[in-house]
Amino acid sequence: MVDLQRPRYHFIPPANWMNDPNGLIHWQGIYHLFYQYNPDGAWWGNIHWGHATSTDLVRWHHQPIVLTPQPGTADADGCWSGCTVIDDAGTPTILYTGSAWGTERPCLATGSADLLTWQPSAKNPVIPAPPPGLDVMGFRDPYVWRAGDEWRLALGSGLRDVGGAVLLYRSRDLHTWEYLHPLYVGGAVDGTMWECPNFFPLGDKYVLCVSIIPRREVVAFVGTYADGRFIPERRQVLDGGQTFYAPQIFRDATDRTLLFGWLAEERSEARQRAAGWSGALSLPRVLTLAPDGTLRQSPAPEVALLHDTALPLLAVTPPPNTPITLPGRQCEVALRLPPQAVTHLTLTHLGATDAPLRLTYDRAQSLLALHLTGDATPRSVPLVLNEGTPLHLRFFIDASVIEVCANDQAWISARSYAESEALLTLQWGTTVSAT
Ligand code: FRU
Repeated sequence: MVDLQRPRYHFIPPANWMNDPNGLIHWQGIYHLFYQYNPDGAWWGNIHWGHATSTDLVRWHHQPIVLTPQPGTADADGCWSGCTVIDDAGTPTILYTGSAWGTERPCLATGSADLLTWQPSAKNPVIPAPPPGLDVMGFRDPYVWRAGDEWRLALGSGLRDVGGAVLLYRSRDLHTWEYLHPLYVGGAVDGTMWECPNFFPLGDKYVLCVSIIPRREVVAFVGTYADGRFIPERRQVLDGGQTFYAPQIFRDATDRTLLFGWLAEERSEARQRAAGWSGALSLPRVLTLAPDGTLRQSPAPEVALLHDTALPLLAVTPPPNTPITLPGRQCEVALRLPPQAVTHLTLTHLGATDAPLRLTYDRAQSLLALHLTGDATPRSVPLVLNEGTPLHLRFFIDASVIEVCANDQAWISARSYAESEALLTLQWGTTVSAT
């Protein structure tokens, strides 16, 4: 039986549960994608690291599992999120989160030159406990980078009754770490704990990206970095939907800053178990900084490689109020819409009872919003367009996955589980005010 909900051109393991992308690295011409994976079924638990490789970011080859929880060690209950670097001697090294007996602590594994087989260090955990005197909520998801002849490690955490925090460590050899101080601590508005920190230079700024508990929102701060302290100047939500979470950001050999995020399910756990799979990855996005300091995210150009096969492209903007039928349940639709006060689009399943999806862009409010049936409030993200700039929308539809990218800037991702095989129709129009 055809699974009407299963994505085909977004990355997804052959079966079972997936959450965060991990350890993204472009090494010797190959992109390596590791990910949080439960080989037992389509639910979270017994977390291993799955692995896939690609030469073009969009067509992936599944590889054997690389990290398995080891009984009696610091990762006995799970190998949680982390990153991959190559050490000074050329040894591939994973820094990940070992979960055991209710603790979470950074662990290390070293790999073969082809990154296919990995060995956890006998000395795990490499950071045995949170810094004394800090009352932390969470201590996980190491993100490591080079700093001169040393390494730095940013760790996701939270300070009780204060807010989310990223803790900064230093090391000469990746095995022994010394705590410095917080890289940055958030305030009460930004949740209690920050998961999956990413910290990297972009243009002439630095970006700190965190996944916020309990809101499940991904926020990027753009700012400056000096003496081991980050000072934010702007704050931006990376995706207005609720499915996009825990992205990992890395620089590839062509010097592009790339991002993949986890697209979580939005249906019941029972339905995920029945389907036998859960979770997909976003398309790769290229991050750049606009001259005004705004973070821009555009689909990686490699996505166009899929147009020959899995992803028909419809790049014709129909006249207003004229429905067009989309080429299938997997397609990209690119539209360039004239600047109007409010633009609205509806995606409807032909002749089916499945609820339509509505997207609106309100120019006065600078707000892009996706209205899904059953939601009390629409999912929205700011999108500032200069007067006269058309609204350039790209819809990436892949069965239950929808990613919308507006003007290479604002994204809203969502899951929509249509029960029929009916094709989608799309129609757009304009009004003077939001309806
Ligand atoms: C984010 C996260 C990480 C953690 C991992 C466990 O989704 O909660 O903080 O390391 O997933 O699977």
